[in-house]
Formats: sequence, C-alpha cells, structure tokens
Amino acid sequence: MSAVLQSDPVITPMLEADLPELMQVEDRIYEFPWSAGNFRDSIRAGYGCWVYRSEGAFVGYCVFMVAAGEAHLLNISIADAYQRKGYGARLLREILTAARGQGAALIFLEVRPSNEAGLRLYERFGFRRVGLRRGYYTANSGREDALVLALDL
Ligand SMILES: CC(C)(COP(=O)(O)OP(=O)(O)OC[C@H]1O[C@@H](n2cnc3c(N)ncnc32)[C@H](O)[C@@H]1OP(=O)(O)O)[C@@H](O)C(=O)NCCC(=O)NCCS
Repeated sequence: MSAVLQSDPVITPMLEADLPELMQVEDRIYEFPWSAGNFRDSIRAGYGCWVYRSEGAFVGYCVFMVAAGEAHLLNISIADAYQRKGYGARLLREILTAARGQGAALIFLEVRPSNEAGLRLYERFGFRRVGLRRGYYTANSGREDALVLALDL
C-alpha cells in the first residue's frame, strides 16, 4: 500500500510511548528487526532518537549517536507505505545536519550488501565503503557480512 501526504513530515524526539506504533513498522519492514528494548536503551542512553510524522501518520524514525567527533547511524527506517517518495533522503539530510551541529566530522553506518534501497540511498549522499564486518548480521542461512560506509561531514 502506498500513501500520499499533503504536508511534510516533522521530526520529534522518540518517546517510549511511541514504541508500540514504531515496533509495528519495524517488525514489518525488517526481516531481523530491532527489539523494543533496543530502542528503549537508545532513548535512555541519550542517542539521537527521532520519529518522523505527518498528519498523524507514522512515516519513519531513526537512531544515531555522536561521540568524540564521530557519528554512527544505527537505524533509519521509513514505513512501507511511504517508501520511495524521498522521505528517507530527507530524514537522512536532517540527521547529517544534526550530527555536524553536534561536532561530528565523520558519520559511519553498517548496511547489508543485500539492502539495495539502503545502498542506493547512501550512495546518493556520497557515502564511501571503508570496511567489511564479516558475519555481522543474522541471516536466514547463517550470517551476513556488513559493509561499513562513511561520509565526511
Ligand atoms: C532504506 C530506506 C530508509 C530508504 O527510504 P526511502 O524513503 O524509501 O528512500 P527515498 O525515496 O528517499 O530514495 C532514496 C534513494 O534510494 C532509492 N531507493 C529507495 N528504495 C529503493 C528500492 N527498494 N530499491 C532500489 N532503490 C531504492 C531511490 O530510488 C533513491 O535513489 P535515487 O534518488 O537515485 O532514485 C527505506 O527503504 C527503508 O526504510 N527500508 C527498510 C529499512 C532499511 O533497510 N533501512 C536501512 C538500513 S541500513
């Protein structure tokens, strides 16, 4: 199902009260989703945890952390009904701006080599491949490697 929004989504801090709705999206769009506890720990750790909403619709969310001049993007997700409409790119742009504003000179992330949408999004922003973590992710048949990508901010 695809959905159309009349106004741009806005970013608000992720609250623990958002987690039931957020987990419905997370469980739908990932084969190996984060748990609610992963999100709760990220909120409590003071990471950048945002939800992205418009007109009451839950468009997406993200989790990133900034420490010692480096940022790490841990989760960026757009609900299936709103994918391929430019929202992922807009949310990523806001994350990069916030990370830069918090003093990060570089941002890292991990992505599955099989994640075409993620790779396309990051490639469009100029992320470059800087490493490979072998067997990083759970996969249907054993483990899947992670590509480590980075972008200078
Ligand atoms: C990855 C994700 C955040 C992208 O968000 P989105 O709103 O769908 O992406 P956008 O519409 O902003 O498109 C960004 C670019 O990715 C491309 N893209 C998006 N979905 C794609 C897909 N399924 N296959 C191939 N390319 C895709 C777009 O064409 C666009 O590239 P272009 O400008 O060169 O055409 C979204 O697909 C998602 O939440 N996926 C599931 C969760 C996930 O994998 N998160 C990333 C984990 S590393």
